[in-house]
Amino acid sequence: MAAVLRLYGTLIVLLFSAVSVSDASTRKLSVQLNPGAVAPPTGGDLLHVRAEGHNDTLHFLLCSQGAPTLLLVHTNDSSSSVSVNWPLFLSRNASGSLQVEPASSILSSAALVFSRLLEYNDINNTAEVTSDLFSPYELHNVSWSRMQLSGASARLCGAVAGGSVCVHLSVFESEGRAEMWPRLLHTANSSQIEVWLDSLSPRAARSRFLLELQAVGGAYALNRVEVHRSIDDEFTPSIFKVSQWLSADDDSSHGQGFVLWKPVAYRHLLPALEDATPCRHSDPRPLEGEAVAAVSGLVRAFFTKEEAYGLNVSFGLAGQPFYNSTKFLSWTALVGVGLAPADTFSPLVLTIMAVGLGTPLVILMMGGVYVGTRRRLASLATSYEPIN
Ligand SMILES: *[C@@H]1O[C@H](CO)[C@@H](O)[C@H](O)[C@H]1NC(C)=O
Ligand SMILES: *[C@@H]1O[C@H](CO)[C@@H](O)[C@H](O)[C@H]1NC(C)=O
Ligand SMILES: *[C@@H]1O[C@H](CO)[C@@H](O)[C@H](O)[C@H]1NC(C)=O
Ligand SMILES: *[C@@H]1O[C@H](CO)[C@@H](O)[C@H](O)[C@H]1NC(C)=O
Ligand SMILES: *[C@@H]1O[C@H](CO)[C@@H](O)[C@H](O)[C@H]1NC(C)=O
Ligand SMILES: *[C@@H]1O[C@H](CO)[C@@H](O)[C@H](O)[C@H]1NC(C)=O
Ligand SMILES: *[C@@H]1O[C@H](CO)[C@@H](O)[C@H](O)[C@H]1NC(C)=O
Ligand SMILES: *[C@@H]1O[C@H](CO)[C@@H](O)[C@H](O)[C@H]1NC(C)=O
Repeated sequence: MAAVLRLYGTLIVLLFSAVSVSDASTRKLSVQLNPGAVAPPTGGDLLHVRAEGHNDTLHFLLCSQGAPTLLLVHTNDSSSSVSVNWPLFLSRNASGSLQVEPASSILSSAALVFSRLLEYNDINNTAEVTSDLFSPYELHNVSWSRMQLSGASARLCGAVAGGSVCVHLSVFESEGRAEMWPRLLHTANSSQIEVWLDSLSPRAARSRFLLELQAVGGAYALNRVEVHRSIDDEFTPSIFKVSQWLSADDDSSHGQGFVLWKPVAYRHLLPALEDATPCRHSDPRPLEGEAVAAVSGLVRAFFTKEEAYGLNVSFGLAGQPFYNSTKFLSWTALVGVGLAPADTFSPLVLTIMAVGLGTPLVILMMGGVYVGTRRRLASLATSYEPIN
């Protein structure tokens, strides 16, 4: 009985902690497109979302000068700022043309580059990348649209193979969960980035795609992917894993940048459950920092000595429909600092558990009260003495 009560109490506490959102974990957002530029730059936009906390600031920078790149810089100063030397920045040949000031306030920095889209002909439906690889689409070579802003989110698209490749970034002022699958949990310390491949003309009926990602770390390289078990909650049905790309260097790397995703892509813009298709990733392998800086204007401009790793995310497993079936794929990741948000049981599941466990408990207690009252009444009755 005591154990049941304790469990019930824990559930109630969990339920309330899941529902309440702490005020300490919110940030004040401000959005600026091409900060300090006199005219819209040629060759791609630079978005700066400043997320100011109590005594720290996160700077989210998204840039399409070259391959689309997200840079996240964490400072321990709530008044740190970004400054851009535009002529040098646009030459894409000078490191230090984008700075976060004061430089001494920088706690961590990490960039994620969407470098290439690869396509292969999966003749035998094995989803193994074979020699039947078509020439890759170099995303630095795509001409990207101007950024379309909406609040603290931005979208850019590029024409690829008769269709479009789009990147959508959302930055958040507090904890929450996106409406769209995979409904990742985010905090004010993480942004969400979604990539989709819409209406591309595949070069074979059995084409499948891979997305090559490159990560550049300031102090700590993102050199390892950890795959954790995830509970199967109502938010991402049928997906039991979550992958986290982070730095394995040492304990002081806690608080550094991470990239997190659930190994799933969707084959429709507004997906149903059967539109989910599993993804896999290759092991991160070291890259020449110089090669990454060559394709990303933002990496070139911010990092002085970069350590880079790259991996491929491949969409679809053996036997799964090919790209041509819907001509659409979307994939979503979180990019943030510190501890990655982790799913716990959702309020709904907790309520069901609480009700499920609580109802028998209430019946038990009511039963106890009833029996107790009966006994008392009975003893009262017997203790009545006739007045006479
Ligand atoms: C966000 O990061 C700040 C600074 O590192 C930390 O104090 C805060 O607890 C973090 N918030 C969440 C929700 O992780
Ligand atoms: C940030 O502010 C909180 C609350 O005001 C304080 O407890 C914490 O020590 C501060 N952190 C730093 C790094 O100054
Ligand atoms: C970049 O700078 C280096 C040295 O500063 C110079 O040799 C090179 O020609 C420049 N490249 C471009 C494309 O401007
Ligand atoms: C911010 O971090 C820098 C470098 O880690 C450190 O020198 C400085 O004292 C820190 N400032 C505060 C206010 O914590
Ligand atoms: C497909 O299977 C056939 C027969 O098993 C084999 O000869 C061929 O090499 C395979 N092709 C690829 C691309 O794996
Ligand atoms: C770059 O794009 C141009 C057209 O915009 C195309 O002709 C060229 O082949 C592309 N190069 C690579 C390496 O993809
Ligand atoms: C894609 O599928 C359609 C019909 O579903 C077919 O007509 C078309 O030829 C296929 N595309 C390729 C590249 O095979
Ligand atoms: C991604 O896959 C392609 C094709 O197999 C390969 O050439 C490339 O090196 C891979 N990229 C990384 C970063 O491993």
